[in-house]
Amino acid sequence: MSKILVIGSSNTDLITKVKRFPLAGETITGQLYTQAMGGKGANQALAARRSGGDVSFVTCLGSDANGRSALQYYAQEGLDISRALQVDHAPTGTAVILVNEEGENIIVLNPGANHQLHPADVSRLSETIRDASIVMLQMEIPLETVIRICELANEHNVPVMLNVAPAREISESLVSRISYIVVNETEIESITKLSLDKHAEDEVIDHLLSMGAKTVILTLGSRGCIVKSSTFRHEIHAFQVETVDTTAAGDTFCGALVAQLSKGETLENAIRFATAAAAICVTRLGAQPSIPFENEVKEFLQAESNGMPALKRKSGSRSIF
Ligand code: ATP
Ligand code: RIB
Repeated sequence: MSKILVIGSSNTDLITKVKRFPLAGETITGQLYTQAMGGKGANQALAARRSGGDVSFVTCLGSDANGRSALQYYAQEGLDISRALQVDHAPTGTAVILVNEEGENIIVLNPGANHQLHPADVSRLSETIRDASIVMLQMEIPLETVIRICELANEHNVPVMLNVAPAREISESLVSRISYIVVNETEIESITKLSLDKHAEDEVIDHLLSMGAKTVILTLGSRGCIVKSSTFRHEIHAFQVETVDTTAAGDTFCGALVAQLSKGETLENAIRFATAAAAICVTRLGAQPSIPFENEVKEFLQAESNGMPALKRKSGSRSIF
């Protein structure tokens, strides 16, 4: 099987479930507290692994208890972490996450060691990048590091999937280096500077394609996603499920997608699989504890296509099949 290289963040997520988000100056009581592994890079690496990918994960952690337990956990989960870094001068990243009763979240990131992954560190990974079948990136490590990885991947003709999350502006020259660009609505608006209130989704996607992106995947939360290139357009509806927590829906989608592509699946089939994996994720609390395994996703898809959904549907919803 071909090797997926994920380079990105790793966080300890401090998650509190609340009835509603607090107002400025207000103190509220949480309903439930839990701590779990997270970070967009780690979530995507794990999602790719649980979807059957052969995954190497490069990340930068602190030399602290959180960093040590993260590495131990990733190794147990079957990620190749032989090129992960640990630094003494910054703590492992953390994310403070509130989840409300609708399953929506508010996240405050403390990047810590994630911001210590520098271009010089990845320049040393040229051979690892060359030997990968695809490189997967997000935006929780420094932008200049993301750019350097893309340069190296381009030199070796290795495709890059970039999930531009969290949202930020990126240059046309970076966009043109990407094979698959995965964005949600906020993210595509930040890059194209076009508002989806004023422009149709296809118009905004076409603008991103005109900036040099080869394939754009615009995720639309509970509505699904649109996949578009110069020769292909496909729209996939999300599965209707009871939403507990949407944290890591996008990460699960990206990781499952890259794993299926690395196994030689068509883009259309890989997107359908990723959509199912993300639907299962939103029915559970937390980031990494919510990421499903390949067999769960296959069973979910089988049950859906038999008209016998495996998971409880959102009240009042119908099957889309
Ligand atoms: P997040 O930041 O919450 O991890 P995101 O904003 O990057 O996610 P979304 O567009 O919200 O990405 O979700 C990614 C995919 O996950 C969607 O395309 C969809 O397939 C699935 N998804 C998200 N929310 C839901 C939901 N409420 N019900 C079913 N599927 C969902
Ligand atoms: O996408 C979800 C992730 O965003 C969380 O796991 C949190 O660590 C933040 O990075």
